[in-house]
Amino acid sequence: MDKPTILTGIRANNDLQLGNYFGAILPMIDMAKHHSDQYQINLFVPDLHSFTTPTDLSILQKAVTSNLRVYVAAGLTIDNANVHIYRQSYVPAHSELTWILSCFTGFGEMSRMTQFKDKSTKIKEDRISVGLFSYPILMAADILLYGASYVPVGDDQTQHLEFARDIATRFNTMATKYGYQEPFIIPEPVKKQHGFFGKDQGLRIMDLVDPTKKMSKSDELGKGVIFLSDAPEIAKKKVMSATTDDKATVAYNPAEQPGISNLLEILSLFRQQPILDVAAEFAGMTSYGEFKSIVADEVEKFLVELQANINKVDDDAIQKKLEYSEALVNEQANHTLHKIQRVVGLRPAGK
Ligand code: TYM
Repeated sequence: MDKPTILTGIRANNDLQLGNYFGAILPMIDMAKHHSDQYQINLFVPDLHSFTTPTDLSILQKAVTSNLRVYVAAGLTIDNANVHIYRQSYVPAHSELTWILSCFTGFGEMSRMTQFKDKSTKIKEDRISVGLFSYPILMAADILLYGASYVPVGDDQTQHLEFARDIATRFNTMATKYGYQEPFIIPEPVKKQHGFFGKDQGLRIMDLVDPTKKMSKSDELGKGVIFLSDAPEIAKKKVMSATTDDKATVAYNPAEQPGISNLLEILSLFRQQPILDVAAEFAGMTSYGEFKSIVADEVEKFLVELQANINKVDDDAIQKKLEYSEALVNEQANHTLHKIQRVVGLRPAGK
């Protein structure tokens, strides 16, 4: 890696939703447009993560392709030599590094991951996979193989990012003990990451029906979720029926008015204006219907444009870029993996 890396991935297990777009895709597209001269930009599809939760395997290939199309339709500049797209399973080093890191990760450490606790209670099947339990280790490998400094993710992934920093630090310490140079670049601290992406905290777009829970693509009913594949008029209706409160005044107050605050947040993201400016513009508005229709129009406009772009995406260009990027990132990932194989004694020192 000649340049520092900015990297993120979005699981291909279902249609993407607005939280994925604002939490991960949009920051990457901004970075690709404005900072690809200083950074290598990796927006990948973590396909090995797809079946950590029960998934219809017959749609997986379609979901992978669909993620890639969304990346490009949303504005990822794949004609740029510093921007890369790839499928995780086409880079075997991810799996191998995961195994090695797993053997240096404590069971207790994984048990503390709140997302596992959250997701495992929602799974109705009697089997909760070990993959769901340990996937933060695979995610750490995804990040550390490329020495990524910045990783735009939503708030739900913050703890996993912290873990990537912890395991990298542990390995670096161990490496120096055995006489090696530190093999991993440690991702920047989470607070610094927020600053870099122009935020003061991690982003969490809430469900429109139940604004106390995160908007999620694995939500079964999907009534409170804006999927990027939703027909624009359906999405509009979802916004118009979003749960609000009985205060009858628009204000940014996530604790007491989570529904309205979430809509303000969504509007501020579409307009790329600070939340407090948007909140000030609508402060005191008493008609929630009127306010919702402003947000609904933004959502509609966004989906119409995105979906038109998806229809225009050149699949051959994506395929060519995948081949180019996957050859390059395999080299980069193997380079990091070999350093780790030496540290843990799987390869002779110095080779
Ligand atoms: P996944 O597919 O669940 O989510 C993809 C990204 O979308 C963000 N996100 C949200 N952000 C704000 N509000 C929401 N409601 C919302 N819902 C989802 C997630 O935080 C995430 O950034 N483990 C990851 C994928 C992954 C990855 C990686 C990410 C695999 N390896 C390496 C970064 C680096 C995941 O399950 O994301």
